[in-house]
Amino acid sequence: MISREIVEDILSRTSIEDLISGYVSLKRAGSNLKGLCPFHSEKSPSFTVYPGDNSFYCFGCGVGGNAITFVRQIEHMDYPDAVVYLGKRAGITVVKDAQDSYQGKRIDKARILKMNVDAAKFFHSCLFAKTAAAENALRYFTEARGLSLATIRHFGLGYAPDSFDAFGKHMRSLGYTYDELVEGFLCGKSERGTYYDAFRNRVMFPIIDVSGNVIAFGGRVMDDSKPKYKNSSDTPVFKKLRNLFALNYARHTCAEAMILCEGYMDVIALHAAGFTNAVATLGTALTSEQARLMSRYTKRVIITYDADEAGQKAAVRAMGMLGEVGLEVSVLKIPDAKDPDEFIKKFGKDKFRSLIENSRSKFEYNMERILSKYNVEFPQEKINALADLVELISTFYSEVERDVYIQAVSKQLGVPFDGVKNDVNRRVKQKAKRFVKEENQKAIRASQGFSDKVNPDYAKAPSVAKNEESVIGLLVLFENHRKKVFDGGLLSEEDFFTELNRRIFVYLRECYQSGTAPNLDENFSPEEVGRITKMKIARMNLTENGDAVLEEAIASLKSSMQKKNAEGASTMDALASLIDRMRKTTDN
Ligand code: CTP
Ligand code: MN
Repeated sequence: MISREIVEDILSRTSIEDLISGYVSLKRAGSNLKGLCPFHSEKSPSFTVYPGDNSFYCFGCGVGGNAITFVRQIEHMDYPDAVVYLGKRAGITVVKDAQDSYQGKRIDKARILKMNVDAAKFFHSCLFAKTAAAENALRYFTEARGLSLATIRHFGLGYAPDSFDAFGKHMRSLGYTYDELVEGFLCGKSERGTYYDAFRNRVMFPIIDVSGNVIAFGGRVMDDSKPKYKNSSDTPVFKKLRNLFALNYARHTCAEAMILCEGYMDVIALHAAGFTNAVATLGTALTSEQARLMSRYTKRVIITYDADEAGQKAAVRAMGMLGEVGLEVSVLKIPDAKDPDEFIKKFGKDKFRSLIENSRSKFEYNMERILSKYNVEFPQEKINALADLVELISTFYSEVERDVYIQAVSKQLGVPFDGVKNDVNRRVKQKAKRFVKEENQKAIRASQGFSDKVNPDYAKAPSVAKNEESVIGLLVLFENHRKKVFDGGLLSEEDFFTELNRRIFVYLRECYQSGTAPNLDENFSPEEVGRITKMKIARMNLTENGDAVLEEAIASLKSSMQKKNAEGASTMDALASLIDRMRKTTDN
């Protein structure tokens, strides 16, 4: 047995994107990556990597799981060997002792962190060197960006000299080796085998985690040259998709609300103006992990992205991710400036404060958009607007929240509350029903004509099996569903018809009750992990009404009609099971 702690440590320090990139050439597709599946031959890519979820899934052949599953499959290793292999990659030695248990030892994390502190000190001191270049860099901060010396010190800002080796020489004089510097992304190695400083002639932003460790750096040019920013790649101590800039400060003042912006400079300007609850992502779009991280510190997030089209699109996307983890979200559109930094410089902090106070919630923001599309003086247009608003409200998760918005709509359009409420309820139910029905039909279609080796019971009752998969997918994905189903005892193993899904359910319940994170690879075959991943992926974007879908699937599982179907009464299911049996006889 390898301790769960070590496995989790290893997984948290393994970027699935980096790992798989070593085997498959991946191209970005939205927030995911796609490539040609290494496990079956294909011409168009159906192999997908989900960096935000640290998982992968192939829609062509059904392999899927996390980094461990990938290594089990691609390197043909068993579970413990795959963990050891990934441990080595992450700088954690997993040693097998006499009792056949494994212990983990970090070999380099502390060392890299110490190295980063020394690097930050060096960059900071370079800002105050008595050279023309240093003075120029300092002036960039104080004059071009309007920062005070106190702010520069508070954020530990610095300057990386315009030299290929000044930094490396200094660090080596402190005892660090080039290998360590390369591992920490502070130096690079050329094809000729010579080493060079990774950051040159840039102003430097150290990135600090909530424990106060310097985990990475961002460096900005001081003119219009490209690339504007250079950021550390992931290192053993840094995962850019899991950290937020300035969360180390913001965590103390963000209990009520947190401000999320796009850039380092926005955050710094906001903190300097007294908005110390501001954070930013690290040069990427917001990930679900960052959303979860934020939800540990705050209740409400105010998004203030750049005013341009790209910023507004990103804001809508972030709004969804934050809502998904149960955060209250509002969006602040910056008028007459490109970003919060510029806004504060132009109009001052009091104006920014009033923007915040008037920031609109996801609902208000969308309601405004809908109302601007119609002229509600005309009855037909009013009806259309109402339909759009009902649709909008039906996407909200909580009934209490929906009621608040129904009230707002009823006031705005002068229509009775109960009428709107009925419409919304009908829409919510409709959507959940349709989802479950579509899933069932898909399942029946898919199971006709092939036998399922991973879940051999599937073909005997496809629609039941599909409902089981709905439940499991949602349980794997969402803590609130686990809470509801396991604490509430809403389902027991007797409600499961297929053996595989029953086994998964029992395992998830065990994990939940003992408070440990599921480690599928330790308990299921890679093929089974692939199937579980499929159940999850298919429901990953089901943020709207996940609750209602879960309820509907549970109700279906519980209904005696379904049970009867499981025993072979349904024509469709009976047909499918007949085909399955025929196949088996011909196979033998
Ligand atoms: N970013 C990056 N690489 C780039 C451009 C941007 O990593 N080539 C990231 C940085 O984290 C940056 C953020 O995206 O802070 C927002 O980009 P942008 O709005 O261009 O940068 P600002 O921080 O607003 O920079 P400035 O105001 O200095 O132009
Ligand atoms: Mn900016």
